[in-house]
Amino acid sequence: MNMEEKLSSEKVIVIDFGGQYNQLVARRVRECNVYCEIYSYKTDIEQIKAMNPKGIILTGGPNSCYEDNSPTYQKELFELGIPVLGLCYGAQLMMHVLGGKVEKAPVREYGKIQVAVDNASALFSDVAETTVCWMSHNDYISQVAPGFSICAHTADCPVAAAECAEKRLYAIQFHPEVLHTVEGTKMLYNFVRGICGCAGTWRMESFVEESVKQIREKVGEGKVLLALSGGVDSSVAAGLLSRAIGKQLTCVFVDHGLLRKDEGDEVEAVFGANGDFDLNFIRVNAQERYYAKLAGVTEPERKRKIIGEEFIRVFEEEAKKIGAVDFLAQGTIYPDVVESGLGGESAVIKSHHNVGGLPDYVDFKEIIEPLRDLFKDEVRKAGLELGIPEKLVFRQPFPGPGLGIRIIGEVTAEKVRIVQDADAIYREEVDKAAALCAKGDDAAVMWKPDQYFAALTNMRSVGVMGDERTYDYAVALRAVKTVDFMTAEAAEIPFAVLQVVMNRVINEVRGVNRVFYDLTSKPPGTIEFE
Ligand code: XMP
Repeated sequence: MNMEEKLSSEKVIVIDFGGQYNQLVARRVRECNVYCEIYSYKTDIEQIKAMNPKGIILTGGPNSCYEDNSPTYQKELFELGIPVLGLCYGAQLMMHVLGGKVEKAPVREYGKIQVAVDNASALFSDVAETTVCWMSHNDYISQVAPGFSICAHTADCPVAAAECAEKRLYAIQFHPEVLHTVEGTKMLYNFVRGICGCAGTWRMESFVEESVKQIREKVGEGKVLLALSGGVDSSVAAGLLSRAIGKQLTCVFVDHGLLRKDEGDEVEAVFGANGDFDLNFIRVNAQERYYAKLAGVTEPERKRKIIGEEFIRVFEEEAKKIGAVDFLAQGTIYPDVVESGLGGESAVIKSHHNVGGLPDYVDFKEIIEPLRDLFKDEVRKAGLELGIPEKLVFRQPFPGPGLGIRIIGEVTAEKVRIVQDADAIYREEVDKAAALCAKGDDAAVMWKPDQYFAALTNMRSVGVMGDERTYDYAVALRAVKTVDFMTAEAAEIPFAVLQVVMNRVINEVRGVNRVFYDLTSKPPGTIEFE
C-alpha cells in the first residue's frame, strides 16, 4: 500500500505505552481483517489526526499512571470523536486523564480470572456472562471517570471494564489480546468491526495483488538485487518480487556451510533454474571460505562477527559481477520496524541482530522492502498465496550465523556434519510425535515447542559402544516454548520421544556418544548457545 492508499483506507492505530503484548494487540486486530499500526505514546496528536484512524487502542505498560513522569497522553485524544479502547495501563490512563481514580490495588490480580461482563455493552456482545480473562495488574481503577459506567467486574476488581458508550470510549483492565483470554479476539472484533465500524478489508490475497502492482510501478524497467537466505522473510520477498518483475530480479544465495542438513539444496530446488519461480538465481558455495576464516576461533562474538562480515564480502563480490542495480531488496518485516525503534516504545528491549546489515559497496539507488507492513504470520500467508512450499513457509526461526552459534568452540566441517545429522534426526522425531498427538490430543499443544534444534557442546567424554571404549562429543537438545522469543521455557517433550532421539543420534551419528536435554529457561539462558 502506498502512503496515499494507506491514508484513505481504514486503519486502527495502537498507541504503545511499553507493555510486552503490544505487537500482539496489533496482530489480533489484523486477524479481524483490519489494518493496524503501532505508534509510540510520544507521537504528536497532529500526526495521529492526520492518519485519520477508525479507532485507537492504548496498550498496557509497566508504569503507574498517577506517578510523575509516567507515560501519558493529552486529554484531547479522547475528544477527537474517534473510538478509543484502553487496555490495562491504557484503561487506567484513560480513567486518570478523564477524572477517575487509579490506585494501588489491595489485591494484585495475576493469571486467568473469571470475569463477569455486561452483555448489553457493545464491547461484550455475544460474550458469555462469565468468561475467563488474563489479568496482570498492581494498580486498579477505584473510581470510573464521570460519564462512564462499569461493564465488567471480578471478585477482587470492581472495574474490570468501563465504558462511555455515547463517546465510544472503552477501558478494559485485563488483556484481550493474549490467548488465555478465551473470548479476547471476539472483544477486539466487537471494538474494531462493531464500535469503530471497520468493514474488514485487510486480506492477504489483496495484499499480494496490490504489492505486485506497486512493485511494478516503482521498479519500472529497473533491476533488483536480493540477498536470499532461505529464511521465511527473504523467501517470501523473493516470491513476491518474482511475481511482479520476473527476471529483473536477481537473488544471491550464499551457502556459508552453516545451514541445516540439505537446506542449501532445498532452497535451490525452489528458487533455482529448475524451480517454479521466474528470477535469476545465483548460489555461492562459500563453505570452504567460511571454515577457513573460522578455523581456530572460539570466542562467540568473534565468530558472529566473522560470519556476518564474510557474508557481506561474498555478497559484494557477486554484486560487483552483476554491476549496478536500481534497487536492493530486503526482507524487513513489521516487527523489525517496530523493534528497531521506529514505531513502538517496547522496541528498545530487543536489539535487532541479523546477519551483516547493509553491504557498503553494492551499487544501488534505492532500497525496496515489500514486506515492511507485515507481521510474521501474514508473511507466511503471503508465502502460501505465492506458491512457496509449506516446508519453507513454516520454517522455524534460524539465526543468521546459522550452526556457527550452535557449535560451541571452534567450527570445523566435521562438527558441522555432526550437528547437522543430529539436528535432522531430532527435528524429524519431534515433528513425527507432534503430528501424531495433534490428531486430537491436547497434550501435544502443551509440549510442542516453538523452536527446537540440536547443538554441539565442545565436551567429549568416555563411553562404551559394543566392546569398545569411545571418547566422543556430547550433543545438546534444545526445545523451547515461547511467545516472543524474549522469554522462553524448556518444552516438556515426552521422555519417550527424547529417548528415541538419543538412541538414533548415538547409533546414526558418528562422533557422538552422549545426548543432553537442555532445561534452561530464558532468562537466565538464551535460546541459542552462543
Ligand atoms: P537468543 O539466543 O537471543 O535467541 O535467546 C532469540 C531468538 O533469536 C534468534 N537469533 C538470531 N536470529 N540472527 C538472527 O536472525 C542472529 O544472530 C540470532 N541470534 C539468535 C534465535 O534463533 C531465537 O529464535
